[in-house]
Amino acid sequence: MNSDELIKKAKDILELNDLGGYTVPTHNLYPFQWNWDAAITALGWMKMDEARAWQEIHMLIKGQWDNGMIPHIIFHKEVDSYFPDAEVWGVKRDLRTTSISQPPVLASIVKIMFEQAKDKSLAQESVSKILDNLINYHLWWYNERDPESTGLVVSYHPWESGMDNSPAWDKSLATVPPVSWEYKRKDLDHVDSSERPHADEYDRYLYLVDFFKKHNFDSQYIYQNCPYKMFDVGIISILHKASKDLISLCNTLKYKPDTTFELNTRVTITESSISQLWSENHYNFLNKDAITNEFCPVLTTGTMMALYGELANESQAIKLNNVLKDWLDLTNYGVSSTYAKSAEFEPQRYWRGPVWLHMNWLLALGTDAYGFTEETQRIKDSASKLIHKEGFYEYFNCDTGAGCGGDAFSWTAAISLHWLL
Ligand code: DGY
Repeated sequence: MNSDELIKKAKDILELNDLGGYTVPTHNLYPFQWNWDAAITALGWMKMDEARAWQEIHMLIKGQWDNGMIPHIIFHKEVDSYFPDAEVWGVKRDLRTTSISQPPVLASIVKIMFEQAKDKSLAQESVSKILDNLINYHLWWYNERDPESTGLVVSYHPWESGMDNSPAWDKSLATVPPVSWEYKRKDLDHVDSSERPHADEYDRYLYLVDFFKKHNFDSQYIYQNCPYKMFDVGIISILHKASKDLISLCNTLKYKPDTTFELNTRVTITESSISQLWSENHYNFLNKDAITNEFCPVLTTGTMMALYGELANESQAIKLNNVLKDWLDLTNYGVSSTYAKSAEFEPQRYWRGPVWLHMNWLLALGTDAYGFTEETQRIKDSASKLIHKEGFYEYFNCDTGAGCGGDAFSWTAAISLHWLL
């Protein structure tokens, strides 16, 4: 397909997935509004209809809890092709949601939208309306997930990482008990099981969902007792970058509530504590189990997000980029989601090897920020080859390039419109 045809197809996908103000990632497999999907998807809408792009963000924020959390899924309308549904999550709100969040890329995307908008007055009006929501969301991350101000927030569920089935979580997830009741997965009605997580992992995902509900979403209790707690380099880096972007947006708009001082403080603390996650043996940052304090020695696009967050010092950045060069040489396409030398690498299975375009874009922003122009270009060229070859799948086999997971996928179409086309 040539670029014009691809642009048309990408736009058609966003329209096809539009359920009236919010966009599903893909029908059937993910039939609601997901947090970081919505943010990325708004970038695609910016190329088509700016008002619709801002609406995507406003619809996401409708799901925000009183404590500031913006949940990972907003169940705007009932659809029965997804499990676990709103009932299983058990959150009693008028607009049903899940009880965990997702990588907080939102404020960074809002900043890009604000800067690129053609309709400046709409952009100004839209951002002004949501600045407090964004600040409260960030303060929720810091206050609830790092109540001792260590500089490193924790995540409570592999689904919160957005990199759900990454081998980085295996060891910690295996210590979570399996859920004791029977259930039927629905993802396997839509996608081949070789591209999705195993039953053993699902049993534990659901135990955690139940745990939050059973303890009435009590943040203090969950912080102290959750059987899964992770210092996730991906979340920490994405939050860090988004906090800096949010502070910059507040400055641009001359909006300075006292709470931006708190954000500044947290940013400074993270900059000094991130070194606790550096492993000189791996030339990389590593995720760390916050219960056992053990490193997870698996390199993933998540651990590379320290470049995107601009949290690596100069010598760490050079080491990360050297690893990245090798990483790019090892597979035929993209930056694979797991380093191909890892024993757990699988080129087609969900987050264990395939290429996700939005992750490659974030990583390319990181390499670009550090001046690694050759790698930035390599990442972009490879991403471009994938969409020209396969179109807009959820993810791509990093060896064959074959499209995997859901087809007609919103964030792949959106990031292609924003970055590649
Ligand atoms: C899933 O795979 O169903 C998760 O909810 C993704 O967020």
